[in-house]
Amino acid sequence: MCGIVGYIGDRQAAPILLDSLSKLEYRGYDSAGIAIRNAEEDVQVLKAKGRLNILAEKTDGGKAVTGTIGIGHTRWATHGEPSENNAHPHTADDRTVVGVHNGIIENYQKLKEKLTKRGYSFYSQTDTEAAVKLVDYYYRKYNCGPKDAISKAMVRIRGSYALVLMFNDYPDEIWVARKDSPMIIGTIKNETFIASDVPAILKYTRNVYYIDNLELARLTAGKAEFYNLDGDITDKELTEITWDAEAAEKGGFEHFMMKEIYEQPKAVGDTLNSMLTDGKIDFGKIGLSDDIIKNISQIYIVACGSAWHAGMVSQYVIEELSGTPVRVELASEFRYRKPILDRNGLVVVISQSGETADSLAALREAKEKGIRTLAVVNVVGSSIAREADNVFYTLAGPEISVATTKAYSAQLIAGYCLALQLGFSKGVLGEPEYMRMIAELQALPDKIEKILQDKERLQWFASKISNKKDVFFVGRGIDYAVSLEGSLKMKEISYVHSEAYAAGELKHGTISLIEDGTPVIGILTQGGLYEKTVSNMAECKARGAYLCGVTTYGNYETEETADFVTYVPKADEHFIGSLAVIPLQLLGYYLSVSRGLDVDKPRNLAKSVTVE
Ligand code: AGP
Repeated sequence: MCGIVGYIGDRQAAPILLDSLSKLEYRGYDSAGIAIRNAEEDVQVLKAKGRLNILAEKTDGGKAVTGTIGIGHTRWATHGEPSENNAHPHTADDRTVVGVHNGIIENYQKLKEKLTKRGYSFYSQTDTEAAVKLVDYYYRKYNCGPKDAISKAMVRIRGSYALVLMFNDYPDEIWVARKDSPMIIGTIKNETFIASDVPAILKYTRNVYYIDNLELARLTAGKAEFYNLDGDITDKELTEITWDAEAAEKGGFEHFMMKEIYEQPKAVGDTLNSMLTDGKIDFGKIGLSDDIIKNISQIYIVACGSAWHAGMVSQYVIEELSGTPVRVELASEFRYRKPILDRNGLVVVISQSGETADSLAALREAKEKGIRTLAVVNVVGSSIAREADNVFYTLAGPEISVATTKAYSAQLIAGYCLALQLGFSKGVLGEPEYMRMIAELQALPDKIEKILQDKERLQWFASKISNKKDVFFVGRGIDYAVSLEGSLKMKEISYVHSEAYAAGELKHGTISLIEDGTPVIGILTQGGLYEKTVSNMAECKARGAYLCGVTTYGNYETEETADFVTYVPKADEHFIGSLAVIPLQLLGYYLSVSRGLDVDKPRNLAKSVTVE
């Protein structure tokens, strides 16, 4: 998705903006640009299609553009093809207003028609240009200041925006406005920074403001004044970001993804510990008392991608440990299907970024129906976090690689905690069993560490299948839910087509795709289902498949059927999905590396899908 940045202070703005934009590259983009106001108060706008280094070359690393105030942007095309012309910043005529934007202006065509009738013309196909010119229109028509012009535009605009604007007549200010798209504002001494996400400004400050929906702000050097849509000043607390700058760097690993795979023990342990009080899980910390929890009639888990896969695992665990019915829904379906929800239910929206448009919309759909909502998110202050009734923060830290790993593992912990607390508060789980299971969760980090010590086996297997065109992941129960994640990891970063299948379903059609040498990866951690899945794998082998088994130490008979077996430590079967997924993450990673691909920034993908 698009990345926005801004700077106002006493240093040259361009190099800072380019550096900040480089920390947002993971969001996915196809062009970039900056606008800098120089000492003569002229605004220079420089844009380039393609990677950020092209813009950096064009501006000699920013040194060719002088000025201490500026804005910048990396664009992920939504309206209009990737081009320099469509790249941001966008300007009103004679540059009275210059702006960058992340989000989607849904009624931009109508706005363009309105503005065209009033003499405006448009040089780009973007919705952003319409937004910038709408602000300009109100600014001129009412001869009002930036605050009123922006407020009037916000009333007219439908859609999402994180808008950053400079006004010619206000050379020492930057104005911002937000609805639904992410934005943070950092200050330190007499410098102010704006960005879509924390990694962009961590190098400069850890003190940030989170601007809320339908708020705007006037930013000057080291200061931020916030207003609501009525133009009233609103107070804001500074939040200190605890993530260290290097946490957003690679920390010695070749790719963010491997660094984040290695951070999983910590992410799992920190997330679990954040929910414990005196050794017991305490949802009261996030406003969900045991009284509330024990009266929850039904759980609806709504998410996208890997977060949805975490929901699929959680469904089995919650139902088995608490007897509470669980429905798992894709957010993009949920938001349009007019879901029938039980008033005493709980809608759980899982989202690493907390900005996924479909998941945010699903959250709002649930709230409109008066159902309590719980967000499971990784980014503090994200839109989904701020709009849910209750928030369970996964403490995975900044996840930069587009392919999620540590955030997914932390989301599983959230699901397990909910399952245990539902079971315990409903009296389905006795205290001894409840405490035993908490101990099982506390043992997961060390077990993940152990698997990582064995990662070269997966590197070897990845090299063996690196020229394959189709790979199948199969499993039953929790193993099936985990296979979904293994398949996505492989697809999204190695571009090898794969499918996850309930092992028992293969014979209903898909097994016809099995050819000589087709890799079939069977997840085999659920004792009661082990034999059945092994026999499904044997059926594939009879048709030429090359079998890989993922199972627990001790199940050495698996090697009688599978050509290659990788083992994970034993654990309570409700939670062993957290272990089985690790080899699958490593397999996807090594396959991508073996194919020489951009592991952290795979083609066509963005870290946070903030548009529909
Ligand atoms: C997972 O590796 C992908 N990056 C993608 O499926 C992701 O999980 C999905 O887009 C949901 O993102 P969210 O968790 O930020 O809402």
